[in-house]
Amino acid sequence: MLHFDDQLTRAFIGEEEKARMEGQLLLARNELDGGTCPGAEFTGWLDLPESQSPELMASILETAREIRDGFDILIVVGIGGSYLGARAVIEALSHHFSSLLSKEERGGPLVLFAGQQLSPDYLNDLLEVTRGKKVALNVISKSGTTTEPALAFRILREALYPGLGPAELGKRIFVTTDRRRGALRRLADEWGLRSFPLDDGIGGRYSVLSPVGLLPIAVAGIDIRAFLAGARKERERSLLPLSEGPAPCDRYAVNRMILARKGYKAEILAAYEPSLHFLAEWWKQLFGESEGKDGRGLIPAACDFTTDLHSLGQFIQEGPRILFETVIRFDRVRKDLTLPPDPSDPDGLEYLAGTGMAHVNSQAARGTALAHVSGGVPNMEIILEERSAFALGQLIYFFQRACVLSALMNGVNPFDQPGVEAYKNNMFALLGKPGYEDLRARLLIMEEED
Ligand code: PA5
Repeated sequence: MLHFDDQLTRAFIGEEEKARMEGQLLLARNELDGGTCPGAEFTGWLDLPESQSPELMASILETAREIRDGFDILIVVGIGGSYLGARAVIEALSHHFSSLLSKEERGGPLVLFAGQQLSPDYLNDLLEVTRGKKVALNVISKSGTTTEPALAFRILREALYPGLGPAELGKRIFVTTDRRRGALRRLADEWGLRSFPLDDGIGGRYSVLSPVGLLPIAVAGIDIRAFLAGARKERERSLLPLSEGPAPCDRYAVNRMILARKGYKAEILAAYEPSLHFLAEWWKQLFGESEGKDGRGLIPAACDFTTDLHSLGQFIQEGPRILFETVIRFDRVRKDLTLPPDPSDPDGLEYLAGTGMAHVNSQAARGTALAHVSGGVPNMEIILEERSAFALGQLIYFFQRACVLSALMNGVNPFDQPGVEAYKNNMFALLGKPGYEDLRARLLIMEEED
């Protein structure tokens, strides 16, 4: 069970401050669950843990089995919310060195990603490693028009499947997109590609529990039923009446709000497991795009500990006092390692002989939290029982709900991202896309004036 511990915020947040937030929390919860919040038409993710039809689940599992049996590599093409959730869960639960294992050792194809940036070097290298391999594509884009994945999709399909007609492409390309609209929907329908629907009420960064996340996660051999069961558990807890005490995600959201109002500017999400690196990337997008608008929001930053204690540790301990941190850790590791004895003690580590590395890691976490708190950095902890699909499902739902409640308490719409258009429009104008001529002229003048 996911456990949320905020004891180390005691010096920074008073109980009476939390009590004063209860009204705002209740309002945000009521608006969210009653469908009256800003962006209420995008709250379809709320019941995803229990609303996937048996037919859809069966079709995802059957397609995943086909891809696992028939291919060496699955390339997932997508960006933002159509990319980060699947990568976060796959990396959190897979072997750290999956790419070095054989298909038999992994039990399925290698899952790689494309379309999440515009680097030709990256795509060229990707094409090089696919040579002589059986490659499937899962193209994911809700709008079907996002430049990065659209461009990667065209390059990959032309390079991987030259000359193949729709029937053969249909055995290799799997599409996840809007049920009715968009260029990818049209293409999928025209070529008869197998496709998975993304419903109107689910925005990209809230879509990991839909086919957007479920298909690639299942191809990676992860139990998606257990993943959804974890999310369901957290959903049940989050719906208990506030009179029974706030849910863990409520408490996290309230603490974040109180700290933001006290002048804290940035939240660091830190994990003591490298497998959670992309979970933090997913979290950065979730909170960054949901909260960062109208001049509001906390800067979502991420650290891998203890690695980054040797890079950002100094800044966290003694830099500007604008940071608080949220730490994720697992209660149990999959397999511990014990430090072997060496009586000659050449490295001064003999006092740890016979000690498990998991214990050393947890004491590092404990010592770091205490050091940061005494340096003025409030610390919260999210403890997951184990590195499992169930635990990851719980964590994802916990963060999604906490993020929306935070944004609502902060007075912003959690489900839009109007600011993302600015770079896209400029890029289109500079690339000469028809319809952007005036903007292009203005940008060129701006550059000249600089
Ligand atoms: O959260 C979001 O809505 C965005 O990050 C989108 O997921 C991202 O821009 C990709 O969009 P699309 O799935 O339409 O290609």
